[in-house]
Amino acid sequence: MNILVTGGAGFIGSHLVLRLLELGHRVTILDDLSTGRQEYLNEAAKHDRLTVLHGSVTDPLALRSAMENCDVVYHLAAVLGVKNTVENPLKVIEGNIDGTRGVLELAYEQGTKVVFASTSEVYGKNSQLPFREDSDRVLGAPSIHRWCYATAKAIDEHLCFAYAEKGLPVTVVRYFNAYGPRQVSSQYGSVIPRFIRAALHGEPLEVHGDGTQIRCFTFISDTVAGTVAAMAPQANGLAFNIGSEKPITINELAVKVRELAGSESPIVQVPYEKAYGPGYEDMPARIPDISRAKAILQYKPMVSLDEGLRISIEWFRQQMKDG
Ligand SMILES: NC(=O)c1ccc[n+]([C@@H]2O[C@H](COP(=O)([O-])OP(=O)(O)OC[C@H]3O[C@@H](n4cnc5c(N)ncnc54)[C@H](O)[C@@H]3O)[C@@H](O)[C@H]2O)c1
Repeated sequence: MNILVTGGAGFIGSHLVLRLLELGHRVTILDDLSTGRQEYLNEAAKHDRLTVLHGSVTDPLALRSAMENCDVVYHLAAVLGVKNTVENPLKVIEGNIDGTRGVLELAYEQGTKVVFASTSEVYGKNSQLPFREDSDRVLGAPSIHRWCYATAKAIDEHLCFAYAEKGLPVTVVRYFNAYGPRQVSSQYGSVIPRFIRAALHGEPLEVHGDGTQIRCFTFISDTVAGTVAAMAPQANGLAFNIGSEKPITINELAVKVRELAGSESPIVQVPYEKAYGPGYEDMPARIPDISRAKAILQYKPMVSLDEGLRISIEWFRQQMKDG
C-alpha cells in the first residue's frame, strides 16, 4: 500500500515508518523537523520505497501533495510535551487541531483511511482505573494550561468520530507512555530519557512531585505493533488503548533505571511548582484496559520494562559515545 506518515521523522513515527517498510509498503513522510530528526531515518532510507517530504501538515499544498494516491494516512505530527503544554499553549492548541482538521478533510475528499495518534492524556485525572476507551474524561479548569494538550487531542478525536459518521474509515489509537531508542531527552523530554541521561551522566534523577504517580510504560515496538494493526478495516470508527498494562510508580522507575544503568546518581524530588511553575496538576495514575485492542487488533504487549529499559539505556550509551 501507499502510506503517508505525518511526523514520520519523530520518535514513534520513525519506528513506525521502518516497520511499514519492512512489511513491504511504500511510505511517504511529511515532517517539518520541528522535533523530528533526519538521522532517525537513516535505517529507513536504505529502502527505496521511502519518500521524505519536508513540510508542515498545516500547509494545505504540502499536505495535498503528500496525500496524493495514498491509501492510508498515519497522522502522528503533533506538538507535545508537558513543558510545551505549560509554556506554549497556543502552539499546542493550533499545532494539534489545525493539522488534524486538514488531514481529515482531505482524507474524506479522497476516501483515504486515517489512523490518528491520540493519547492517554485524554482521560485526564479520572480516578476510575483502568481506563476503558469509553471512560469519562476528567480535566481541570481551562485556565490551567496543562490540560490544553489533552483537550486539543480530544477535539481531534471528536473530528475523527464526526468524519467516521460521515463514512470516513478512521481509527484512533491512544498511546500510553511510549519509550525507547530515539526518544530524546530535551528540556521537553519525557521521564524515561530524562532519567537515563541523568543516570549515565552521574547527575541526579529528578522525580517531579512525590513520585507516587503511576504510569504504564510501553516499549516502542509494542506501540508500533498496535499502530500498524489499527489500519485493519475492523478497527474503523473505534478508539483503542495501546499500551502496557503493567503499572509502576515514578519512584520505582527511578530506582530501576539507576540500577540497570549501573549508576550511583542520587534520586531527588522536585516539587511540581519548581519543575513547571505554579498551578501544575498531574494525574495520579494512568492504566489502560486493553481488552478491546486484544480482541479486535490481536494486540499484546511483548517487551517487559526491564528489557525495554536495557535496550534504551544501551542506545543512549551509544549516542554518548558517538558524541
Ligand atoms: N511518546 C508518547 O509517549 C506519546 C504518548 C501519547 C501520544 N503520543 C502521540 O504520538 C505522536 C508522535 O509522538 P512522538 O512521541 O513520536 O513525538 P515527536 O515529537 O518525536 O514526533 C512528532 C513529529 O511531528 C513532527 N511535527 C510536528 N508538527 C508538525 C507539523 N505541523 N507538520 C509536520 N510535522 C510536524 C515533528 O517534527 C516530529 O517529527 C504524537 O501525535 C503524540 O501526540 C505520543
